[in-house]
Amino acid sequence: MRLAIFASGGGSNAEALMAMAITRGTPYDVVLCITNRTDAGVIERAGRYDVPVEVLTAEQIASGPAMLDVLKRYDVEAIALAGYLKMIPVEVVQAFRHRILNIHPALLPSFGGHGMYGLNVHRAVVDSGVRWSGVTVHLVDEGYDTGPIVLQEVVPVEPDDSPEVLAARVLRTEHMIYTTAVRLLAEGRLKVDGRKVRVLERD
Ligand code: GRF
Repeated sequence: MRLAIFASGGGSNAEALMAMAITRGTPYDVVLCITNRTDAGVIERAGRYDVPVEVLTAEQIASGPAMLDVLKRYDVEAIALAGYLKMIPVEVVQAFRHRILNIHPALLPSFGGHGMYGLNVHRAVVDSGVRWSGVTVHLVDEGYDTGPIVLQEVVPVEPDDSPEVLAARVLRTEHMIYTTAVRLLAEGRLKVDGRKVRVLERD
């Protein structure tokens, strides 16, 4: 499966996906890294894996047809959002229905939605007093963090956690769960039935 990764920031999840892609038997290749920022850390990381990078123009970020042109040029079959902070145009969501994954550093549907990204999420989790946070990988639909859930994993919140300490603990789990989810998509093992995603056994 030809995967494009979209990232706006440091790109540690992108790197976890690229590192997995070059290990033997992985059912996907990372054929493109897309970012909206010229200073994104993911650019340097992609270079280390010989993955081409496209820095999108304002038009390519906002216009579905323009973004689809970029994806077509690389024969992209699926997309993994990894800290991409822009909305995906609706035409792209429709063209790649059930083929776009996003990772969110909390247990959706809590602590998600507009403005809930980066440390904002972990600050809200710590302030709320919940004992458990976690990671959610979901399919992308037309909303913010609203698509069907593919995988979740819990991560404990310790009494004295700062948002930064919790973020680091959650990030370690993100790297594991995201590679697993992308593999499942590549193996055709995600069966979507409305809001529910069933993970099929290996044949
Ligand atoms: C991760 O916490 C991811 O869940 C969120 O943004 C962060 C990106 O981190 N959507 P990185 O750029 O992958 O290191």
